[in-house]
Amino acid sequence: MITYTAVILLALSLAFSGNSFEEGYKIFKRSCSTCHRETMTPEELAKVRETVMKGGKPPIKAPPMSEVSARVKKFYPTEEEFIKFVKDYIANPSKEKSVCLPRALKLFGVMPPVGRTLTDEEREAVARWLFHRFSDTWEEFIKKHPH
Ligand code: HEC
Repeated sequence: MITYTAVILLALSLAFSGNSFEEGYKIFKRSCSTCHRETMTPEELAKVRETVMKGGKPPIKAPPMSEVSARVKKFYPTEEEFIKFVKDYIANPSKEKSVCLPRALKLFGVMPPVGRTLTDEEREAVARWLFHRFSDTWEEFIKKHPH
C-alpha cells in the first residue's frame, strides 16, 4: 500500500514537473525570446564579438539563455538560490544585482523589468526552465565559447 501511494505520488510529481517545464518554455518564447536567443553557436557568438570590437552595433539585444543560465549558476549554484535570484531579477533588475559580465552590461544596458507582467507562478516556471534547460557550468560554457 505504501509503495502504491509512493508510485502515484512520484507519477504525479513527474507529470507536474513536466508541465511546468513546458510552461516555462512557453513563457520564455512569449516574454523573453524577443531579446534572448535560446542558444547560439560559438561561431555566432564570435561574430557578435567581432562586430562589437569593430565598433558596430550588436546584432542581438541580450546574451543568449545558454550563457545567462551558466553565468547565474556561477553565483547562485543551487536550484533554490537560482530560482530566487531569477524571479527577483526579472521583476526588479538593476546594475548592482546583475551578475552578467561587466562588458555585456555596458553593451546591452540593464534588462527592463519584463517580469512584472508575469504572475508569481509564471516567473517561477520560467526560472525553473532556465535552470534545467542547460547543464553547462560557467567554466564549461567559456571553454566552448571563448570570451
Ligand atoms: C527587452 C529585452 C529583454 C527581455 C524581453 C528579457 N531580457 Fe533578460 N536581459 C536583457 C539584457 C539586456 C540582459 C543583460 C543585462 C542585465 O543583466 O541586466 C538580461 C539579463 C538577464 C538575466 C541575467 C541577469 C544577470 O545578473 O546577469 C536573466 C536571468 C534574464 N535576463 C532573464 C530573462 C527572462 C527570464 C526573461 C523573460 C521573462 C527576460 N530576461 C526577458 C534583456 C531582456
